[in-house]
Amino acid sequence: MRAKIIGTGSCLPDKIVTNDALSSFVDTSDEWIWSRTGIRERRLVSSESETTVSMAVSAAKAALEDSGLLPQDLDLILVSTVSSDFITPSTACLVQRELGTCNAAAFDLNAACSGFLFALNTADAYFQAGIFRTALLIGVETLSKIVDWHDRSTCVLFGDGAGAAVVKAAPDGMIAGLQGSDGSGGDILSCRGRACGSPFFHADASPGCLHMDGRKVFQFAVKKVPECIQSLLQAAGVDAGDVSYYLLHQANSRIISSIAQKLKLPLEKFPMNVESRGNTSAASIPILLDEVHRAGMLSEGDLLLFSGFGAGLTWGAALLRW
Ligand code: UT7
Repeated sequence: MRAKIIGTGSCLPDKIVTNDALSSFVDTSDEWIWSRTGIRERRLVSSESETTVSMAVSAAKAALEDSGLLPQDLDLILVSTVSSDFITPSTACLVQRELGTCNAAAFDLNAACSGFLFALNTADAYFQAGIFRTALLIGVETLSKIVDWHDRSTCVLFGDGAGAAVVKAAPDGMIAGLQGSDGSGGDILSCRGRACGSPFFHADASPGCLHMDGRKVFQFAVKKVPECIQSLLQAAGVDAGDVSYYLLHQANSRIISSIAQKLKLPLEKFPMNVESRGNTSAASIPILLDEVHRAGMLSEGDLLLFSGFGAGLTWGAALLRW
């Protein structure tokens, strides 16, 4: 039995922040951001009631409704995030509490922007092993609370939001998945945690903000993602042209165009929402999936390929039948 997606949902904060709005407090411009990234605006949390958990719960409820399952039908709740509200309990346990069910095992995983793919592949492995039969997968980020709002090279890129998918064990669905990591590249995209508060040694107490060497991440993405896609297609014996849509991590439209070019595929096969969402890290693929699904673009039996890359370094891909 493999993981089949039977429902999707998403949640975005109400506040729309345009490139022009950012240029009122950092030295940047709509022209620079648009031409380098394809981003025009992003959604950012703007009240105490909009949190990582609140967005995850809204996306989860929409996905459950779409799937026809009830919270108590879930065996597993997996949340991928690098911006949880609490160190503990996990976001997954807090979502579980809000959904009012205690039947599911719930935990978070951190694979940054590849996180939703790691969650999907993990659920699929549980299903193949016969351990669980249903799962709620959520990618959610409130990156606005970890970016440095004085650093124009990073703060203009990210957005907040949540995407969710309900999956169940089925004879069809996932065809192949892969995931990988290279910890030696961790320094090019990182965010330090809190300093040690131990009375037994002195440690730097400066709070951590997201730090990135954008060029190196760009180079990593345009090399690794096509490799990942090609090896997945080869392993599955599927022709690249037979895939209806490639739903890629939405970091930068130039990265996506370069990947499409390397794969010699038309850009129409690569739906994008980075223009209005920015880079929402672990949430980007499930938000895009939900938008594509709700726009009526998917037909039963379509082949979909997801792929992403991110901090860690991490990368992943999944090929499945809708
Ligand atoms: O989910 C994964 C997370 N990250 C990514 O996917 C990011 C991947 N990388 C990228 O998307 C691109 O590297 C960026 C969009 C981040 C940067 O584009 P770039 O073409 O690689 O620009 P750069 O970093 O080489 O900077 C070029 C210039 C620099 O000025 P000088 O040194 O040439 O005078 C920067 O200081 O652009 C300047 N710059 C800006 N100017 C206006 C950097 N950020 C900004 C800004 N506004 N926001």
